[in-house]
Amino acid sequence: MARKIIIDCDPGIDDSLAIMLALSMPDQIELLGITIAAGNSPVEMGYQNALKVLDFMGRLDVPVFMGADRPLRREFINALDTHGSDGLGESFLPETDPAKYVRQERSALEFMAETLRREPASLIALGPMTNIAMLAQKHPDAFDNIEELVSMGGSFRSHGNCSPVAEYNYWCDPDAASIVYEEMDRRKRLISMVGLDVTRRIVLTPDLLAYFKRLDHRIGGFIEKITGFYLDFHWEWEHLIGCVINDPLAVACFADKDLCRGFTSYVQIETGGISIGQSVVDSMHFYRHSPNALVMTEVDTLAFFRLFFSSLLGVDKSELDLLPQLIRTDSRTIDD
Ligand code: RIB
Ligand code: CA
Repeated sequence: MARKIIIDCDPGIDDSLAIMLALSMPDQIELLGITIAAGNSPVEMGYQNALKVLDFMGRLDVPVFMGADRPLRREFINALDTHGSDGLGESFLPETDPAKYVRQERSALEFMAETLRREPASLIALGPMTNIAMLAQKHPDAFDNIEELVSMGGSFRSHGNCSPVAEYNYWCDPDAASIVYEEMDRRKRLISMVGLDVTRRIVLTPDLLAYFKRLDHRIGGFIEKITGFYLDFHWEWEHLIGCVINDPLAVACFADKDLCRGFTSYVQIETGGISIGQSVVDSMHFYRHSPNALVMTEVDTLAFFRLFFSSLLGVDKSELDLLPQLIRTDSRTIDD
């Protein structure tokens, strides 16, 4: 039975790959809608980018809703330096024809609140959690109805990507992230934190891209088009041949619980000072506080790419015989 989800995101190159993956797993995932927050891209750009991806996938039936255009308190700092001036790797895809979709009147918050009041659904957060924090504050009954909350964000032992200690989604809106973790704590519930410790092991390399294109030139060509800028960015900043595709791992981790492993812990988000945005993971139980998060620390990289390729290509995993030799599964990651 497919599980109903809402994806809250900031497309964004890896957000786009995550949306593509979610749409390619109809047996596991029913995507009820996409809500947009300001993050990688300004919110209108993120909205248009989500439509471009849905159009490519032939799924403009999936509704997209505009959300917060800035963080709760902090000045908005986008990540277009990483995702390109169009937020999609400077692929400069044409804007989606307005005649092909319905521009939703409801806001992201209204859609989330009405949907979750109607039926339990899971929430996969792939950007700054501004919309989700506002849901918790203004519609706590709807927030209660979130079946599972998965967040791509934070880091435990891995270094940050916006500061020595902070990951972008939680750094961009630390107040929202803090509220969400506190709200989960108040409810004695666990948020799945799919952070940099595991996403940094998900590196889309030129070899993997070449393999993808050999198997399906159309989809592989699209992924190549939107990730080229991202590959350049990773070479310039991390001397990495490949690009870390964070967000699809959060979707995969939701769909296949064997992909990632971790531990439960109490987590707080720093909202000021030099460590702003840091996810402070109390792995040693100093605060004697019950856990509010499942912190992911290990991932089966090969299993992820088998799922990613087989879902997007619509082929059986057994047909992907070249994958094992293309995946870097050694212990060394870009962390080392
Ligand atoms: O730090 C990586 C995260 O921030 C990803 O979700 C990326 O899309 C950006 O939103
Ligand atoms: Ca994102």
